[in-house]
Amino acid sequence: MSISDQKFYDKVAKKFGGYKSEAIHENHFPSGNPEEIFLEQLIKYSGKDKTVLDIGCADGRFTLKIAEKFYKIFGIDISSEMLAKAKQFQEEQNISNAILQKAEAEKLPFQDKYFDLIYSRRGPSPYAEIGRIIKSSGYYLEICIGEKDGKELKEVFGRGQGFGDWNISVAKTKSDNLVVKGFKVVFVHDYFYSEIYPDIENLNLFLQSVPIFKDFDQEKDRENLRSYSEKFNVSNGIELKRHRIVIVAEKL
Ligand SMILES: C[S@@+](CC[C@H](N)C(=O)[O-])C[C@H]1O[C@@H](n2cnc3c(N)ncnc32)[C@H](O)[C@@H]1O
Repeated sequence: MSISDQKFYDKVAKKFGGYKSEAIHENHFPSGNPEEIFLEQLIKYSGKDKTVLDIGCADGRFTLKIAEKFYKIFGIDISSEMLAKAKQFQEEQNISNAILQKAEAEKLPFQDKYFDLIYSRRGPSPYAEIGRIIKSSGYYLEICIGEKDGKELKEVFGRGQGFGDWNISVAKTKSDNLVVKGFKVVFVHDYFYSEIYPDIENLNLFLQSVPIFKDFDQEKDRENLRSYSEKFNVSNGIELKRHRIVIVAEKL
């Protein structure tokens, strides 16, 4: 991750008031909702005696939602704008066991073996740092973007996050890296599903709020968007194929 990520997320937080888009869409999950499965796994390993870290907590809405399941929850992010929103939400919700701070994922300001549990919800995944600050027998959980995410959309645009890496399995690469860093992978699963946007305006709004194309420009990309919308037009809107991976690993 780089400075351009920081700028990108600062811009999104300013424009949308956090990490969210107002784009209307429906989801179709033929093999389960990965976000629900990630949450189930996180709850399974949670505990009132546990100290947990959320890497790339963004506007903190998820961090704050699960804070009550833990003794103490830390959230770090590189974007000051996202953190400002997170702190505002924390104050509004009066949550006292969450510590939200600015930090770079690659240089985490925590001592060795500090955390019982660490997770990244579509955030950075610096495995060497995670391996250093997690306790032995602690769990690391991640939900991340798969290699086939938005493939058809990126092909029409001729660019995008992970463009062309369609056959390099993220699940395998990540699992192998975790093993090298001293983890045992206990759960890893790919999820393929669809989002249906009712019209081009909602797909456009969605694309402004995510890093699929960090340089997305609604004027310059008008033709790409039109061409994609025509090609992937389904009965109730425009289909966008998604790919997520959920991984759970235990530190040996
Ligand atoms: C896709 S968002 C994560 C959303 C959030 N975890 C959630 O559950 O809604 C990715 C976040 O990671 C943060 N990020 C990106 N690179 C980073 C880095 N090197 N160090 C810390 N945070 C980073 C971004 O600022 C952004 O807020």
